[in-house]
Amino acid sequence: MTDTTPVGVAAALAGLPPARTAFAQFSLQGRVALVTGAHRGIGLELSLALAEAGAIVYCIDLPVTPDADWVKVQEYCAALSEHPNVNTKGRLEYMRGDVTNQKEMWALAEEIVKKEGRLDVAIAGAGIGHVAPCLEYEADDFQKVLNVNLNGVLYTAQAAGRQMDKLGIKGSIILIASIMGSVANPGVQSTAYNTSKSAVLQMARSLACELGEKGIRVNTISPGFIHTSMISFAPPAMTASWVSQIPLGRIGRTDELRGAAMWLASDASTFCTGSDIIVDGGHRAW
Ligand SMILES: NC(=O)c1ccc[n+]([C@@H]2O[C@H](COP(=O)([O-])OP(=O)(O)OC[C@H]3O[C@@H](n4cnc5c(N)ncnc54)[C@H](O)[C@@H]3O)[C@@H](O)[C@H]2O)c1
Repeated sequence: MTDTTPVGVAAALAGLPPARTAFAQFSLQGRVALVTGAHRGIGLELSLALAEAGAIVYCIDLPVTPDADWVKVQEYCAALSEHPNVNTKGRLEYMRGDVTNQKEMWALAEEIVKKEGRLDVAIAGAGIGHVAPCLEYEADDFQKVLNVNLNGVLYTAQAAGRQMDKLGIKGSIILIASIMGSVANPGVQSTAYNTSKSAVLQMARSLACELGEKGIRVNTISPGFIHTSMISFAPPAMTASWVSQIPLGRIGRTDELRGAAMWLASDASTFCTGSDIIVDGGHRAW
């Protein structure tokens, strides 16, 4: 559901009343989204951001029922709609799902459409890391990472894209890649992870080219190092070495990815597809 009302200079010159401001372009009021890996970390943060912008967001992850922290975030979101200064009807819903199960993912997206009547946005955020020396990497471990980070991302994009296509919705699909898809990091033995993220970058370009004629956009966000459970394995010396490579001199926070996700999810980015948005404190700048 793209709002085609003229904005900006075009609206002014057409003599339209100033109804749709720059901020309104970011509104997701009336939109429906699914986000995988949304029980915690980056997925949950981006889910809340979309809901704050007005979307009904289905958070998909492995636990059968969400934990107390997730419920707390859901309640926080619900309370926002009661706040006099916040005009959002967005909300968070939870669904159990495994991104490595193609048919299950397709069925979940279908179920969301049955409930809500539409699907406008998908964020493929589920991901796992695994560290092992490249010459010793066990086949099973390698495959496990690819199953989640690569196959799971494809199944998520397919699940959403099939519904958008069926309903004629010019939706936005956002794949969470990583700067590790473009550069390797000295001292981090993550061949499978880096390989999977590199493939996600190319997957997004391929999907964008195929789905462009339907108006469905596909982009990636490549975060740099962000404080979540995923990087908690790193001893202080390793974290310090990462920080020394980041011009802003620190690890990022999950909330610092909200702007890029809201931009890509909304009508503020209607001419953007096949792109990679890097949010990394400058890590890739050198
Ligand atoms: N944290 C970072 O520094 C960083 C940097 C770049 C990219 N990323 C990417 O961001 C995404 C989110 O990572 P995070 O840092 O929030 O990590 P996280 O470990 O906190 O969250 C990942 C979530 O994915 C879920 N998940 C794993 N396997 C799944 C499956 N098969 N089906 C459904 N859900 C599954 C987990 O249960 C978890 O809730 C990942 O794709 C990750 O690769 C993270």
